[in-house]
Amino acid sequence: MKGPYTGPFLASDATMNIKPLHPIFAAELRGADLREPPSAELVKTVEDAVDRYAVLVIRGQDIDDDQHIRFSRAFGPLELPPDLGISTVRRRLRRELYDASNLDAEGKLLDLNSTRRNYNRANEIFHTDSSFNDLPTKWSLLLAHVLPPEGGDTQFIDTRAVYDDLPPATKEKIENLVAEHFLYNEWSRGGFIEVTEEMRRRMPPVRHPLVRELPYGRRALYIGAHASHIVGWPVDQGRALLQELYGFATQEKYIYSHRWQQGDLVIWDNRSTMHRAAPFDDAMTHVRDLRRTTINESGPERASTDPVPA
Ligand code: OGA
Ligand code: MN
Repeated sequence: MKGPYTGPFLASDATMNIKPLHPIFAAELRGADLREPPSAELVKTVEDAVDRYAVLVIRGQDIDDDQHIRFSRAFGPLELPPDLGISTVRRRLRRELYDASNLDAEGKLLDLNSTRRNYNRANEIFHTDSSFNDLPTKWSLLLAHVLPPEGGDTQFIDTRAVYDDLPPATKEKIENLVAEHFLYNEWSRGGFIEVTEEMRRRMPPVRHPLVRELPYGRRALYIGAHASHIVGWPVDQGRALLQELYGFATQEKYIYSHRWQQGDLVIWDNRSTMHRAAPFDDAMTHVRDLRRTTINESGPERASTDPVPA
């Protein structure tokens, strides 16, 4: 397995440096200022660091939505949040941003039983963003605007290390398997919502290989909350296999817990990690305002529920 990054781009640039945050993965990049348009050197540094560490933290970024979006677009076209057609609630944020907060459109704390609050609950299971759609999702970039006084960490797993450590017999068994991923998998199983035909039509289940080949020659286990069963297997058997893999992947040693500070931008590669919101303050008496961009490997910029351009 690759060790901490020691390549030349860091040595040759005295203004930026990288500090590992966990024995296996995750690092902090210091010396970047995202108020400025990103330089070619910064873009290369971040690309290489995310390939190496899968999770990259850039702290102290007092930036607005425009700057967040501009920085994100330097790495790929934005993936717009899908139009699920189920929310009667107005959006709080502009179309380019996923709202990971516990606030409604007026900026008030969400009602405990709101759909969005239940969506946040599903976020408390390890998942990879957008595995439920067929866009080639690359990274998520989550920026902390307002934080609760305590709790509200986000936890990450390096699914490359997980794959590497699987017993050989398991690797062989899953080599060519394909999982079905469905946005409403955990919501419907948890009894939080009923999935209507219209919801299924807008966001139908999609299929992804269980083992993901990464562009730089490693492999990762691709599972998580949205993976519902294995294609061609009886549903119960597939679910059992996914649960067994989930249990293996969520061992303590694979988890990096990020304790947020205001102005943290955390970038993760959805192809090589899982993450979840650590459950916190279930009564939600404190504001937690995090905003996310998501990018794809290739364009054009669209939501998975938009018509595919000709
Ligand atoms: C997300 C997500 C977790 C959190 O934004 O995709 O899962 O801790 N967030 O808010
Ligand atoms: Mn997520």
